[in-house]
Amino acid sequence: MTLEQLVKSVENKVIETRRHLHRHPELSGEEFETSSFIQQQLSEAGIPFKTGYAKTGVLGIIQGDKPGGTVALRADIDALPIQEDSDLAFKSSTEGKMHACGHDAHTAMLIAAGKVLEQMKSELSGTVLLVFQPSEEDAPTGGSLQMMEDGVFDEFKPDVIFGQHVWPDLPVGKVGVLPNEIMGASDRFKITIKGSGGHASMPHQSNDAIIIASNLITQLQTIVSRNTDPLDSAVLTIGKIEGGYRYNVIADQVTLEGTIRTFRKEVKEMVKSRFHTIIEGVERSFGADVQVDYSDGYPATVNTPEWSELVRSSAEKVLGEDSVPEVSPSLGGEDFSRFLQRYPGAFYWLGTSVRETEQQFPLHDPHFKLNEDALPEGVKLMVQLALDSLSELERKER
Ligand code: NI
Repeated sequence: MTLEQLVKSVENKVIETRRHLHRHPELSGEEFETSSFIQQQLSEAGIPFKTGYAKTGVLGIIQGDKPGGTVALRADIDALPIQEDSDLAFKSSTEGKMHACGHDAHTAMLIAAGKVLEQMKSELSGTVLLVFQPSEEDAPTGGSLQMMEDGVFDEFKPDVIFGQHVWPDLPVGKVGVLPNEIMGASDRFKITIKGSGGHASMPHQSNDAIIIASNLITQLQTIVSRNTDPLDSAVLTIGKIEGGYRYNVIADQVTLEGTIRTFRKEVKEMVKSRFHTIIEGVERSFGADVQVDYSDGYPATVNTPEWSELVRSSAEKVLGEDSVPEVSPSLGGEDFSRFLQRYPGAFYWLGTSVRETEQQFPLHDPHFKLNEDALPEGVKLMVQLALDSLSELERKER
């Protein structure tokens, strides 16, 4: 059978699998049913696998009949603590949990790609690893580091690794890839400002935490507008502010929570350092007590230029010459970044925007929907990428 025919043979199944997973979402670190479902699917396809990586992670191993390199394909498997708001027949059956980032589709496509590759074993020169990764949504802990610490690549070390993510901003049939940074570094912070309260009419007897917070917010905004090179990217967002009791009481405490997003390491370090300096200055000038809880999130996702070029050429082969439009990087965080810190490879986006008659909602939205027409294309692309990578590795070996 040709690749086209093999993909055709799993086309219905990939959609059925995705719908099953969509109906049964599980949160980061709790993907037990999802993990056993994956194992059962691999068993049925005769694909050997190992388990016990980051608790629920699974590694499928397809060894070609001929010797060669090792390529890893990764799918994340976890869902989000979101209440799904949709009219889908297969919507989440679990209260407060939803596959709102398309990881159900990622898992379904990787299982299907595995099935196709297993049937092509006699032609394969080398090994294809199917990496099913838990806890992607659990930033900054994630699941990728734990999988590597648990030895997922001890026996077979990938020469290259790929991650595919559904992308509602791109139409079906299109793929987004960049030669370097594609996803941002995503840090998180909580600031607690402690002043002292009092009667609204007697401000001189208190230390107003709301005034301190306002000053701090304004000063923090200058990091991006005044300290960052306009040609670099950075975002500092305060998404939550809490404090005060009622209209005639001066607030003794305010908490601020937010996130810092960057691409380049130097920019991240500069933003982080200015952030702390400004807080110390405000703390001193207002005589307040300011506590900061800063957590470094996922690093930026940085592709290897030559392997992102391969994603482009494989996509052009299976999806057509104009299938890889120009895209800009996203400041969203992604746990795949940690695989890329240790192994060469690329992360890319698979266009999944819904039909024009429907409204598109973004990832992580309770109304999020993806276009299932993209799933067989994603399968085909993963298979083609695996084949092209093995040939490329073979060529390099010679
Ligand atoms: Ni995601």
